[in-house]
Amino acid sequence: MDRRLGSSSAPTRLFFAPGRVNLFGAHLDYNGGPVMPTAIHRGTLIGARARADGRVRMASTLGGETLDADLDTLPQVASGAWFDYPLGVLIQLLGKRPQTMAGLDLFFGGDLPIGAGLSSSASICVGTALALDLCWGLGVGCEGWVNAALQGERGFVGVQCGIMDPYAVGYAKPGHLLWLDCKDGSFSYLPLDPKVVSIVVMDSGVKRELAAGAFNQRVQECKAAAEFLLPLTSGADCLRDVKADVLAEHGSKMDPVLQRRTRHVINEVQRTFQARDFLAQGDIVAAGDLMVQSHESLRRDFEVSVPELDLLVDAVAAGEESFGGRLTGAGFGGCVVALVRRGQEEALRERAQGWFVERFGRDPGFAVFLGDEGPRELSLS
Ligand code: GLA
Repeated sequence: MDRRLGSSSAPTRLFFAPGRVNLFGAHLDYNGGPVMPTAIHRGTLIGARARADGRVRMASTLGGETLDADLDTLPQVASGAWFDYPLGVLIQLLGKRPQTMAGLDLFFGGDLPIGAGLSSSASICVGTALALDLCWGLGVGCEGWVNAALQGERGFVGVQCGIMDPYAVGYAKPGHLLWLDCKDGSFSYLPLDPKVVSIVVMDSGVKRELAAGAFNQRVQECKAAAEFLLPLTSGADCLRDVKADVLAEHGSKMDPVLQRRTRHVINEVQRTFQARDFLAQGDIVAAGDLMVQSHESLRRDFEVSVPELDLLVDAVAAGEESFGGRLTGAGFGGCVVALVRRGQEEALRERAQGWFVERFGRDPGFAVFLGDEGPRELSLS
């Protein structure tokens, strides 16, 4: 297929959906726990143009494969190509399409690194849902984009992801963290003043494949731990509800791996509630310390870190300019997110890059991210 958008006379519309970093509540969303992510100003750009026939075509700057299919006979099985993500969303929303609407050409690009823990998958999925909603006049709104993104990624791509990423992307608010309770999907916002705190992301350059199994394995381990512990905890219906005393009493009857996974979840739930209280009081120093503790727990108990990420977090913890930091996203590589005193980012850059080059012989990526207002159509007017 021609990777240009072609020569149809229909206008091309342009859409944007951000990526996200998660600051507190690591690997809690699929355990029903609280999380505090925020959207970033990098994301996915989507050009969309109506077609006169019933075909859908997808191309991207992200990968060479292209999709060219009839809307009535779309592939029903993921192929492993990048377009599985938007295709899964399209399949979710197809039933809502008015009969009068025809096909679409969709072209994807953007400035979000893939597989770096910045939720390129939720960004492309929510962005696709937005584009389809507005091009086809579905009227599903943000709730519909978030649900289609989630169902597309779980049902079609096959990643058993929690609800955090599409919520963080869909309900973004600049200068704020999203406080999301993943047990019931309720959310509110906590201010994080960009004049005081910068969000720094350092990329370890270690790539990981989210769908490749390690993430799903953690989901399965937590499920197995919950199956054992929930009947022993009155009123509990997800691992988030299990308390430390129950683990202390019954943990030794579990596989040691499941004990460690549960210990992370219990401590991380507690840290996330504490962080919310600290942030509400304006105590970013105390909240930052919790991020470093969280990383240690992700390294030791959840076992999703790698030496490159550990070194970057050590560099964060060593400097007065930094409040705290930890790996963001699923782990197994990808990025560290740090909260840094505004205007002092260079001090962290110098230390982190110096240490990283000395140990690994290459530069880590370093970027200061701004917040974002969320998925939207872009226009010149
Ligand atoms: C990935 C998943 C999220 C969440 C994080 C870990 O990014 O997509 O749903 O589970 O890992 O916090």
